[in-house]
Amino acid sequence: MKKFLEIEKKINSFKKTINVEGDKSLSIRWVLLSLLSKKKSVAYNLLMSEDVISALNCIKTLGAKVKFYKNKCEIVGKGMEINIQNRLTLNAGNSGTLGRLILGILVNTNKKIKIIGDKSLSKRDFSRVTKPLKKFGAKFNLKKNLPVEIVGLKSPRPISYIENKGSAQCKSAVMLAALKSKGTTMIKAKKSRDHTELMLKFLKVPISIRKSDDNYDFIKIKGVKKIGPLKYKIPGDISSCAFFIVLTILSKNSELFLKDININPSRIGIIKILKLMGAKIKLLNIRFYKGEKIADIFVKSSKNLTAINCPTKYNSNAIDEFLVIFLIAAKSKGVSNFKNLSELNQKESPRLKWAGRILNSMGIKNITTNNSIKIYGNPKLIVNKNIIIRNFSKDHRVFMMSVIAALTFGGKWKIYDLDSINTSFPKFLNILKKLSPKT
Ligand code: S3P
Repeated sequence: MKKFLEIEKKINSFKKTINVEGDKSLSIRWVLLSLLSKKKSVAYNLLMSEDVISALNCIKTLGAKVKFYKNKCEIVGKGMEINIQNRLTLNAGNSGTLGRLILGILVNTNKKIKIIGDKSLSKRDFSRVTKPLKKFGAKFNLKKNLPVEIVGLKSPRPISYIENKGSAQCKSAVMLAALKSKGTTMIKAKKSRDHTELMLKFLKVPISIRKSDDNYDFIKIKGVKKIGPLKYKIPGDISSCAFFIVLTILSKNSELFLKDININPSRIGIIKILKLMGAKIKLLNIRFYKGEKIADIFVKSSKNLTAINCPTKYNSNAIDEFLVIFLIAAKSKGVSNFKNLSELNQKESPRLKWAGRILNSMGIKNITTNNSIKIYGNPKLIVNKNIIIRNFSKDHRVFMMSVIAALTFGGKWKIYDLDSINTSFPKFLNILKKLSPKT
């Protein structure tokens, strides 16, 4: 595969209907929960990206059986106990979600298990999950970064935990560990994506969730001896849609219809923010599936975009989409402010820094700190120079943001690490070709 992508021309206008691949958060959760049931779980439209393949490999190493029939995946898991013969190593690849959630599942392992990851994952903070998981009684060996070793105990104790970062990964790791404990775990968690809660409810796990107005949820969850299998049809990923939504808004005379997308309220910060900025987006044909909200999304080219003082209440709900939201700010009239975003620098690469660098190279003035970015929009911006994007820790979202910038603002771009798209969205380029075959 070619290592870089060269783009020298803006995309032609398009009017198309597309499907994006299955949601990554739901795919990884389905794989991990399937390990915990001894019966056959079935998923349709499982995302076949590297992060999900890493999850499948981890559960296979733990003894699960995985089979594929075209668009259908079947898993027969091992049940709630993680009893293994010998020490094991599990490779979480590039995936923070996998690396962190699986530690929750391993709180009752009888032997030492080592978690490793790629270069980017090995730079990320794991103490944010080992800290609460220690309270269950599991023992960890973690310097600052990966690898981490865990040894569990037969009967983990329930805990009380306050999650303050708005991190669904931390909240979910604790919920999965709570499943293994004897008694009730109490969690106060800053609002974040709630897919784990919804799947556990659907599996009839004793869980109660009280939502409060002050941006926190109170979750009570009781340990169980077994859980049933999970049959699931995975809807499209809003985080993948985000690139095409922004592409359409910034392209001339274009329209896009995106079908069967998960619009869980904890994931649609991007829609709310872009609408406040004047983007033309509609959610159509809204329906529910196993607690998740699904819709088709219609989006149109939008002129007269305006700057935003982005309400921080949307931060967690748009955390994976800010890179492309910043492109809309670059094209808007006025100065946009995004605050309290230090979590963005905790992702596959320091994304706030990368946003600042890419906008600078496009000629967009911005002031970027460790936790905020101020973007001086320019509705008339036309990029007319050579831009090279490289050494971004193969962060899939930095790659795809750069492609969207190149296709909408112009200039001559050379974007390295093309294979990074395989982390979350292997069909990204195929869909682009479908939108504009001659570009
Ligand atoms: C995810 C949660 C988010 C998000 C990540 C996926 C999940 O991370 O950035 O891409 O599936 O739980 P944090 O929970 O660390 O914010």
